[in-house]
Amino acid sequence: MIPPHLIRIRQVSRPVIGLVLGFMLGASWLHATGEPEPLWAYGFLTPPAPGDKAVPQGAPGPRGLRANQDAAEQTKPRHVEGSSAAFSLLDIRDAANAIDWFPNEHPPMPAVVAHGPAAGTGNTARACASCHLSNGKGRPENAPVSGQPAAYFLRQLQDFRNDTRHTADPRKPNPATMIALAKAMTDDEMKAAADYFGAIKWTPWIRVVETDLVPKTRISGNLFIATEKTRTEPIAGRIIEVPEDEEQAETLRNPHSGFIAYVPVGSVKRGENLVKTGGMSIVDGAIMPGKTLACATCHGPDLMGLADIPGIAGRSPSYMVRQLYDLQQGTRKGISSPLMQPIVLNLTGDDMVAIAAYVASLAPPPVVAGK
Ligand code: HEC
Ligand code: HEC
Repeated sequence: MIPPHLIRIRQVSRPVIGLVLGFMLGASWLHATGEPEPLWAYGFLTPPAPGDKAVPQGAPGPRGLRANQDAAEQTKPRHVEGSSAAFSLLDIRDAANAIDWFPNEHPPMPAVVAHGPAAGTGNTARACASCHLSNGKGRPENAPVSGQPAAYFLRQLQDFRNDTRHTADPRKPNPATMIALAKAMTDDEMKAAADYFGAIKWTPWIRVVETDLVPKTRISGNLFIATEKTRTEPIAGRIIEVPEDEEQAETLRNPHSGFIAYVPVGSVKRGENLVKTGGMSIVDGAIMPGKTLACATCHGPDLMGLADIPGIAGRSPSYMVRQLYDLQQGTRKGISSPLMQPIVLNLTGDDMVAIAAYVASLAPPPVVAGK
């Protein structure tokens, strides 16, 4: 069921709606704020220098043994809890033939998801599941793609294909691969991927922990990985999202092993207010509009998506802040992005952290069998 206000939205051009919402918020249209880049959301420690560019991702290497690692280690069968499958490191690293630990948990994988676009060569000879995982849970450095409405999923692929969705940090290599993949896909492959991932319901994947201190981390492929268990480093207003278990997430690519998001103390509560009311307040009996609008109006009462608008609840907060910042900077400017531009226009970096901390902490509703 599409609520009547959204049906109306769909009849008017989206840029016009964006403009109207922009005026409602008293915002001057199309002017990006000078907020500094949330570097952690892109997986960097230092700002980009002028002219910095991503080093393009190469073709997935040939399926051979690595010289710098023991051969037996690379070929021995490995296992994860709850799966009867066995894969070696050679299998796990083979980006053109994605492994599948839990084939019974999802519909049959279409060829594009398991092997990549048929026309894919070089860096586009990659399976969707190699980055987004077989169940589409994704990782902080890419995107959580399962459980999204097919219409939304397809629109994003078209936006990538049309070069209207870029990342604000020019150094991040995998969005460029994503764009190249969208250009290599046929419309039928896009539809097969959208239907496959769309059929997998979103379930909990992120554990949000409020803290002043985070573990020491290193960055591998724009992903933060904890190097110790103890928390000794000030969080300093960031969100630090790390695998619950490095061996499970990195070495084995286990799609049951999720992420911990360390968020600043107090951010969840502050985010809740912005998400539920847009930050509106009542001063001397008069309603003062907030700096943004309530998210449920468009993203659905449980923020799990509505019509062709994406679900955001319980998903990676690093990914979320990256998208909010990309939308604010205007590097993500797809067909429907104008609806989000007034929402992000007045947000500070701290607001984005608070919003993402709260939204990521929401548990998706339980999956009912047969639904
Ligand atoms: C090299 C890793 C990689 C591979 C392989 C890959 N993607 Fe992506 N994908 C990304 C990244 C990175 C993003 C997010 C870009 C950003 O930060 O804006 C993304 C985003 C997306 C999104 C947008 C999600 C959203 O919520 O808006 C869709 C849809 C998507 N990918 C579909 C696919 C499909 C279909 C395939 C297989 C043909 C695929 N991806 C293969 C890295 C990858
Ligand atoms: C007026 C309708 C509307 C409101 C209100 C709204 N959104 Fe959105 N949102 C959208 C649309 C439409 C998209 C898809 C944009 C696109 O296709 O580029 C979107 C996309 C997003 C995305 C990117 C999701 C992804 O998977 O890449 C995030 C994150 C997001 N919204 C967060 C929020 C938050 C947080 C709020 C409240 C503070 C909010 N939105 C309020 C319409 C809205």
